[in-house]
Amino acid sequence: MRTQVGIVGAGPAGLLLSHLLHLRGIDSVVLELRDRDHCERRVRAGVLEQGTVDVLTAAGVGDRLRREGLPHHGIELRYGGAGHRIAFEELVPGRSITVYGQQEVVKDLIAARLAAGGKILFDVPDVKPHDLTGSPYLTFGGEVLECDVIAGCDGFHGVTRAAVPQGELTTFERDYPFAWLGVLARVAPSAEELIYARTPRGFALHSMRSPEISRFYLQVPKDEREDAWPDERIWSELAARLETVPGFALKTGPVIEKSVTPMRSFVTEPMRYGNLYLAGDAAHIVPPTGAKGLNLAVADVTMLTDALARWYETGSAEGLDAYSATCLRRVWRAQHFSWWMTNLLHTFADEDPYGERLQTAYLDYVTSSTAAATTLAENYVGMVW
Ligand code: APR
Ligand code: PHB
Repeated sequence: MRTQVGIVGAGPAGLLLSHLLHLRGIDSVVLELRDRDHCERRVRAGVLEQGTVDVLTAAGVGDRLRREGLPHHGIELRYGGAGHRIAFEELVPGRSITVYGQQEVVKDLIAARLAAGGKILFDVPDVKPHDLTGSPYLTFGGEVLECDVIAGCDGFHGVTRAAVPQGELTTFERDYPFAWLGVLARVAPSAEELIYARTPRGFALHSMRSPEISRFYLQVPKDEREDAWPDERIWSELAARLETVPGFALKTGPVIEKSVTPMRSFVTEPMRYGNLYLAGDAAHIVPPTGAKGLNLAVADVTMLTDALARWYETGSAEGLDAYSATCLRRVWRAQHFSWWMTNLLHTFADEDPYGERLQTAYLDYVTSSTAAATTLAENYVGMVW
């Protein structure tokens, strides 16, 4: 089998790359470890920056997003018994976010790929990249896929980054002493917008997926197990961390999904090795507090598509040679913002009282200074690069 771009991984990065390349007349094949149902059901985050909405819309996969996505023009920071709205319409006029589940983006992309005759092979157990600095090819299930370049879109635990010889990549990591328990519930949202709550009991986030479905996150110990959280405990802890301001009542209902996500910051440099280009979680991970993961993946593959199209159309490798450095500028901005939001809003077991006061003092600054609130808003809705 032969193609131009061999893509490993059918997450948002791999699927969008395949679609964007298709729109530029470039052939690709996507090899995915799991089955279609798993990829479409995997509950993940759900905040799309303006730039991401623009890319998906321009790529012709924005119809359902436009119909079902929830545009938001602000978020609330809640701490010390009060809520503080970060008003995007005032601080970053014309820019907003859209709440739309990542699995919905994946469903839309898979449907668009298949409708366009795109090649996605699901359930491929043993993908292996070869000859990354020569004539790259992928082997899987006794088959061979020859290609001009390989796109590693196989996430943090994938095979592509791992195939790069030792010493060729430098990794930067930071682990956090806690995790997030994510909860999907069949109940109407308890507020119009997202609420980021910092409490002495730990962080909590109120989010949503639709007028009928709410999404919540609770800061829990690092190695927490889902089964330690029966529904009643989830609702009583969410109430304890969110019902901290007058007039707010948490709506409760059946929990339909819950999972624990580790909190990690991770960057690989460079995001390229020979004819292998890493994108999305295969190259970098951010803690979800800044809602940047999906948006970074979309920005990477938008950049990679332009660079590949230029190479195929003109023979110039300038874009490909600049791919890693250009992406990493944006990646480190998102890394800092996500680390900063995580430190600002979570409680650290080993925190001394002085450290705690520093956190709330910083929150007081962010919620009272237009300059500081604008910085948060600008990063949250997505920097214009
Ligand atoms: N062979 C083939 N496919 C693989 C392999 C492998 N060895 N290992 C992993 N995969 C697949 C996974 O099953 C998954 O479908 O690669 C895909 C990677 O998708 P994601 O993890 O969603 O990563 P990415 O597309 O980069 O999207 C980043 O995902 O985790 C969120 O917060 C993150 O929002 C960000 C987004
Ligand atoms: C979500 O809705 O899943 C979500 C929202 C904001 C975040 C992370 C996740 O920071």
